[in-house]
Amino acid sequence: MHPVITGAPVSRPDPDSYAVTAEFYDILQADRDAARVHDLYGRHVARARLGVLDIGAGTGRVTLMSLAESAVGVHAVEPARAMRTSLLTRLATLPARQRERVTVHPYALDEAALYAAADVAVCHNTVACLSPAARDALWPAIHAALAPGGTLLLEPPPALLPPRDVVRRLPEQRVGAHVYGGRMTMSAAGYRIRTRVDYWVRGGRHVLREHTESFWMWPTSRTRLIDDLARHGFAPLPGHGDPRVLAVTRPAHR
Ligand SMILES: C[S@@+](CC[C@H](N)C(=O)[O-])C[C@H]1O[C@@H](n2cnc3c(N)ncnc32)[C@H](O)[C@@H]1O
Repeated sequence: MHPVITGAPVSRPDPDSYAVTAEFYDILQADRDAARVHDLYGRHVARARLGVLDIGAGTGRVTLMSLAESAVGVHAVEPARAMRTSLLTRLATLPARQRERVTVHPYALDEAALYAAADVAVCHNTVACLSPAARDALWPAIHAALAPGGTLLLEPPPALLPPRDVVRRLPEQRVGAHVYGGRMTMSAAGYRIRTRVDYWVRGGRHVLREHTESFWMWPTSRTRLIDDLARHGFAPLPGHGDPRVLAVTRPAHR
């Protein structure tokens, strides 16, 4: 997600964003998200013959799934230092034969200089958090990084602003004597969504620590997203009917 800042939205991700969230990300969400990314992208990744590109790799859910499901090289692109720390820690536990297939790019994709490096690109839970300017920089970079005929699979942003505050509790998780919890509150703020995430650690009945991090999200209709992608040379992937994922291809003839 894009951190909340004052002033005009910028296209460069802040390398220090997710500094609070990274500590809580995997303990509160990893298991559920691992099953979800396998369900959404696993069969596409398994068909990759050139490479897989994980755009906004975070702590590595799509990256690890791609290493397990494919036999090709995986490019994990992650500009935020805190998220990348968790990603590298996970990669460090892999057998050398898997680890030698993954390259971590510590930049936004448009700074990573990847050209025709993959035939499958996945952008999970990331586009929503990119400003229009950041998306304008991202689409040409994906086009360049995908080989002709390659496929881009992305999780679409929310189509609309929430009509009222939406609160989602992240199920609490026990770690030894402590219990970790979190709550996301999404509120409309002009044309954007402000997502505030509150985290806590409890010991018995006492709250030991509380932290908060906020992010911006930019809602966009599916039609608008398809139009944007078409302007950047992508065409809908024929035969893809899963409404949870937007699938487009970089046509072979362009
Ligand atoms: C909400 S997190 C999702 C992480 C991961 N995909 C997941 O679902 O667990 C979005 C990630 O995108 C990264 N990001 C932001 N702008 C980016 C860009 N231009 N290129 C690549 N990654 C970007 C952020 O640093 C952040 O880790």
